[in-house]
Amino acid sequence: MSQDALKKAAGWAALDYVEKGSIVGVGTGSTVNHFIDALGTMASQIKGAVSSSEASTERLKALGIEVFDLNSVSELSVYVDGADEINHKMEMIKGGGAALTREKIVASVAKKFICIADGSKLVDTLGEFPLPIEVIPMARSAVARQIVNMGGDPVYREGCVTDNGCQILDVYSWKIADAKALEQQLNNLVGVVTNGLFAHRGADVLLLGHADGVKTIT
Ligand code: A5P
Repeated sequence: MSQDALKKAAGWAALDYVEKGSIVGVGTGSTVNHFIDALGTMASQIKGAVSSSEASTERLKALGIEVFDLNSVSELSVYVDGADEINHKMEMIKGGGAALTREKIVASVAKKFICIADGSKLVDTLGEFPLPIEVIPMARSAVARQIVNMGGDPVYREGCVTDNGCQILDVYSWKIADAKALEQQLNNLVGVVTNGLFAHRGADVLLLGHADGVKTIT
């Protein structure tokens, strides 16, 4: 089975968590694209979605799903999104698609975070995948210098402008033992908008696509 087929299986499995009549929180990425396609089959049974990116918004609307501004929604029952890495504590690295800030915001108001991924995303230690950090453009070099002092190896993701008009540093060479502590420490750097560690708000359910089926981990 291809990696995309495993992503598709996980994406469609997340439909089981969608409540009829609800507004669904929707992430970003190739795995979520499969979930959005699945959600399209329920378009008339849900109220709509809150989206984490312009790309997901466009795909949702094309399937006839109304997209709400988060400011007009007080609560989401579920948020469905992929991950670049997830560990056994359900902490994640996200942001490979540069949508980390809106993803973290939408996830923060959802009762349940459903992570959908192919089996390769489950790791023992976070950090093999470079950690994305969204920065205010004028702070990029200053933040990068502080990250070097913290033992990281930041690389500017050239040509990438986020939906918020900001830039991304991808940090290599970190084996992340304490994701919660590092998430907090990075949040304290002036000029950082968001970092791609989702540890304080990790996943509640992981739907992992394997060749022999989708495994549910809670
Ligand atoms: C988007 O910014 C990311 O957080 C994605 O959710 C993550 O990169 C997973 O992407 P794929 O589903 O494309 O692997």
